[in-house]
Amino acid sequence: MGDYSGLKIPKHVSIIMDGNGRWAKALGKPRTYGHKVGAENLVQLVEDADEIGIKYLTVYAFSTENWNRPDMEVKTLMRLFRKYLKICYQKAMKNHSRIRLIGDFSKLDADLQEMIRVLEHDTKDFEGINFTIALNYGSRDEMLRGMKKMLADCKAGRISEDNLDEELFSSYLDTSDIPDPDLMIRTSGEERLSNWMMWQHAYSEFYFTDTAWPDFHKEELLEAVKAYTLRDRRYGKVSSGEEPNV
Ligand code: IPE
Ligand code: IPE
Ligand code: MG
Repeated sequence: MGDYSGLKIPKHVSIIMDGNGRWAKALGKPRTYGHKVGAENLVQLVEDADEIGIKYLTVYAFSTENWNRPDMEVKTLMRLFRKYLKICYQKAMKNHSRIRLIGDFSKLDADLQEMIRVLEHDTKDFEGINFTIALNYGSRDEMLRGMKKMLADCKAGRISEDNLDEELFSSYLDTSDIPDPDLMIRTSGEERLSNWMMWQHAYSEFYFTDTAWPDFHKEELLEAVKAYTLRDRRYGKVSSGEEPNV
């Protein structure tokens, strides 16, 4: 166990795991090799996050836009997800992590959907780290799906428009039982959200690093947590150290 006493540990960290392709290319390997090493890296990083004391870890694995990649790459990614979810299951049985998936699963193959159902069901009472994987996830798609469900409930009289507030809307999102992220990390130099939890990140701290995902290990995660520790989260107020009546 490390000593993290000087650090403010974020309760929920989200990660855009970017740069697998470029990382592999730099080694003269196919992009899919980067995805394979990236997936292996994730297995370790979940354990590291747990050890550091992070309670929720949510990762962006495949976006609604990623279907636009070459067929071969999409196929390889789906194959990797199958393999990865199996490993996830075995790990969860050992370390009691609770696994959730977010996104629109209806577009995934039936066997993958079934794996997801079993994984979520069999880990739902576990009290270790809450680990969430976004598969075929897009923030706009999530909000529209949620809005449709909400409208249906409204029409059926299960909810009333008068009660619509931020909390009620949040309850229709895929992340309904997950708190908003405190810290959002994106690897590999890109500084954009790429359709990643736009509602949920309204007040998160952002951390960008040039390190590619396959090279993002515990040490890099701790660097991000260190940067987070120094941030002043004001939520629209003045700084807590500020003089009143100025
Ligand atoms: C992230 O790495 C993995 C997925 C989006 C599935 P990329 O595949 O985007 O790698 P780069 O950004 O092209 O290097
Ligand atoms: C975002 O990365 C999606 C995931 C990491 C799964 P991309 O590589 O797809 O994002 P863009 O295309 O650079 O914005
Ligand atoms: Mg990318």
